[in-house]
Amino acid sequence: MLILGIETSCDETAAAIVEDGRKLISNIVVSQIEKHKKWGGVIPEMASRFHLEAMTSVIEACLLEASIRLGLSQTELISKLDAIAVTEGPGLSGSLLVGINAAKTLAWLYDKKLILVNHLHGHIAANYISTELEPPLICLLVSGGHTQIIRVDSYTDIQIIGETLDDAAGEAFDKVARLMGLPYPGGPHLDKLASSLSSSKYSFKIPKVAALDFSFSGLKTAALQLKEKLGDELWFQDKAEIAYAFQETIAEFLAQKLLESLKLYDYNKIIIAGGVAANSAIRRRFSETFSAPLQLYYPPLALCTDNAAMIAAAAYMQSCTKTALA
Ligand code: KG4
Ligand code: ZN
Repeated sequence: MLILGIETSCDETAAAIVEDGRKLISNIVVSQIEKHKKWGGVIPEMASRFHLEAMTSVIEACLLEASIRLGLSQTELISKLDAIAVTEGPGLSGSLLVGINAAKTLAWLYDKKLILVNHLHGHIAANYISTELEPPLICLLVSGGHTQIIRVDSYTDIQIIGETLDDAAGEAFDKVARLMGLPYPGGPHLDKLASSLSSSKYSFKIPKVAALDFSFSGLKTAALQLKEKLGDELWFQDKAEIAYAFQETIAEFLAQKLLESLKLYDYNKIIIAGGVAANSAIRRRFSETFSAPLQLYYPPLALCTDNAAMIAAAAYMQSCTKTALA
């Protein structure tokens, strides 16, 4: 089954073609980050306009890449497509509308099935691409908008068992990075800055939050207070040491919560999903903590952040499950 996926929930305009939910045929992502950078965050009205400007050429590039890879003409490729999948939410409403309208138009024009996909299911499905991974499993979803621990009992049966009470992990990374004067989105910049060190003279307390929930606001305030104590003119070394301590604390906090979830629920497969899953300290800490007999999976870096391949993969899993049940 060949599915064309479209994703426009935030600041990436993306289209991808995936075969049978696992084989990546083409994957195009155009990021608006450079355009939003000067505002220090995504401006929703501008995001939808940028999606509108990029949508057609992103779909064209995706079809072109796939037709070259499969050795088909564009007409042959389109006739082979089984469905058009699109993110229906959660996300910025104006941005989502651009993708949904594009997908609806293509589905109507070429007489294809339209599959609406939840963005969070998409992040989970990123882990199915190019692997043989199957549920049941436990997922830590850490993105700019979400921090959740999710039980994934089948491709469609998912249940949130823990989540943040305030900021998402990605938001906390972005806010602390901004304190350090790093550009938006700060997570990858903070990661890079911290990676120049292997220890720090600073440390932050791991937040204490009940059950499997998270909170990042205290950590963010602690970073702000430390910065204020050190004065406005922070040296590079201080910034790097704060970044290092901050991301180690987040990695430890996430690992501890995931360990608690494994005490309550008996799973042996663990996946990390979402943009923050690209973080090097988290990857290192998790590889140390979740070793055999546990199996740890994360998507390749390009599939951690928003993309449409994960939407096409999730659409395949959800449509196959429905067909199987029918
Ligand atoms: O999943 P995503 O692309 O978009 C949402 O659905 O939110 O996640 C974006 C978030 C941003 O907050 C970004 O700073 C963070 O993921 N991020 C990182 C890294 N790469 C992306 N955070 C920490 N370290 C990274 N290497
Ligand atoms: Zn996302």
